[in-house]
Amino acid sequence: MKSSNSLPSRVGRNPFVHELKFTLTEKIKIGLMSVTVFPLRLLLVSFLMLLAWPFAFTASLGRSEYVVEPQSWWRRLLDVCLRAIMRAMWFCGGFHWIRVKGQQAAPSEAPILTVAPHSSYFDAIPITMTMCSIVTKLESRSIPVWGTLISYIRPVFVFRSDQDSRRKTVEEIKRRAKSGGEWPQIMIFPEGTCTNRSGLILFKAGAFIPGVPVQPVVLRYPNKLDTVSWTWQGPGAFKILWLTLCQLHNPMEIEYLPIYTPSTEEKENSALFANNVRKLMAKALELPLTDLSFDDRDISLSHGPLCIYNYSILLEFNRLVCRLGLRAGATSKSLEEQVRRARKLQGDGLGLEDFARFLNLPVTDPLAQVHSLFDKHGDGLIDIRLYIIALSTVYQPSKTMETLKLAFKMYESEDNGKVLEEDLASILEMMLGVEEVELSGVFLSLEGSDEGKITYDELHGFIEQHPYFIQDYLDFKNHPRKLCIGRPKSCNGQNHNKDV
Ligand SMILES: *[C@@H]1O[C@H](CO)[C@@H](O)[C@H](O)[C@H]1NC(C)=O
Ligand SMILES: *[C@@H]1O[C@H](CO)[C@@H](O)[C@H](O)[C@H]1NC(C)=O
Repeated sequence: MKSSNSLPSRVGRNPFVHELKFTLTEKIKIGLMSVTVFPLRLLLVSFLMLLAWPFAFTASLGRSEYVVEPQSWWRRLLDVCLRAIMRAMWFCGGFHWIRVKGQQAAPSEAPILTVAPHSSYFDAIPITMTMCSIVTKLESRSIPVWGTLISYIRPVFVFRSDQDSRRKTVEEIKRRAKSGGEWPQIMIFPEGTCTNRSGLILFKAGAFIPGVPVQPVVLRYPNKLDTVSWTWQGPGAFKILWLTLCQLHNPMEIEYLPIYTPSTEEKENSALFANNVRKLMAKALELPLTDLSFDDRDISLSHGPLCIYNYSILLEFNRLVCRLGLRAGATSKSLEEQVRRARKLQGDGLGLEDFARFLNLPVTDPLAQVHSLFDKHGDGLIDIRLYIIALSTVYQPSKTMETLKLAFKMYESEDNGKVLEEDLASILEMMLGVEEVELSGVFLSLEGSDEGKITYDELHGFIEQHPYFIQDYLDFKNHPRKLCIGRPKSCNGQNHNKDV
């Protein structure tokens, strides 16, 4: 479900969305394919998947989780059959030929394959072609049919209910990686989530912590109409399947890059290792680096009437508070508590030491950086209320009205619950990530309200009545309306997009 009031022109690259637009010809083609080829393909694909099941099941019999049994002839035979069935399945799905460039390394040379960009469940194709292991959550084992196929490739399971799961997963990857080629290679999608392939997001460290040589593998889907991308915001799993099966042919390219052996420094610093491999892969793909991570997804997808407009400063803030452990400690309750304490301070300026005391933390570099983000006048003093608003915004990016309510609790006057226009401007600057908010439009439209003051209920009612609040009533630096002057052409799509 898309919120009709999201701003189409928000600032910042957001690779977690995938908007599909069809031309008339494409629509007609899909319509025709839907009643002819699609049902046939769906039937064949389902049949082949079911056919694979007994093979995978038999081949998994009598295996231990901790040792690799010797490859007996019947296991080898089953493996060949399974590969053939899976290849036939993709063929029936329209992946008629798959271009493979480069050579897959031997398990003893590169125990880990890092695959990017991750954009779809069709990324399973290279896995079924190589029968490499993957890292997956334990729950996937119980998916009917597919779960048996997953178990067949000896995945490293992540126990999400287990507190210690991250460490255990890394231990297991390490153990297998150091087995000298005895275990199958592990394919890891280091981005950890799907994007629309417009850039490479940050890599998680898991694949790089063992410090063993990795082979980077890049995937390309050079289709004109991108029906395969399965991102957080975009067509759902079935729609992707339907649209993809309705394409005559789905091209795909898998390229094995040369093995990357980490230097001593990279072995010790997995973040550096990850980053260097990421750069190399981006270069091979001719894609930009997008410095977002899996955890930034919610922030860059915030929605609601006061959704974040320019996320750069809030992403930076989020990175720092995550590092300081402040983000993990945020709960509705702790926020309420901070709000209560901040109210007492009544906007007194806090220096770095007072700020540290407020948060019960020692003065450190990252803390000083957080402090300086709020130091508007450059005098070393900050208004703690803005920090709390920022924390609430990154903690619950889509519950913007909750954050607004908290903000009012800190700023409202005790006798009538009203907030001053200039204070509201500061609140909105923080929540939207913008500068120089101007509210005269709102106050002019509010009949009968006190001059330059507003209560939460008044503002809430106003926002409910005006879904395009940000576009129509707010003014701020770099507002899309300002950018439009003299450039009417580039403004297509920045107008109210009522049909999204
Ligand atoms: C994919 O992400 C980029 C930002 O990285 C965005 O500009 C583009 O619109 C997205 N593509 C689609 C088809 O949604
Ligand atoms: C977004 O915010 C950042 C940091 O405040 C700023 O540098 C950048 O210019 C802003 N972008 C736009 C287009 O307003």
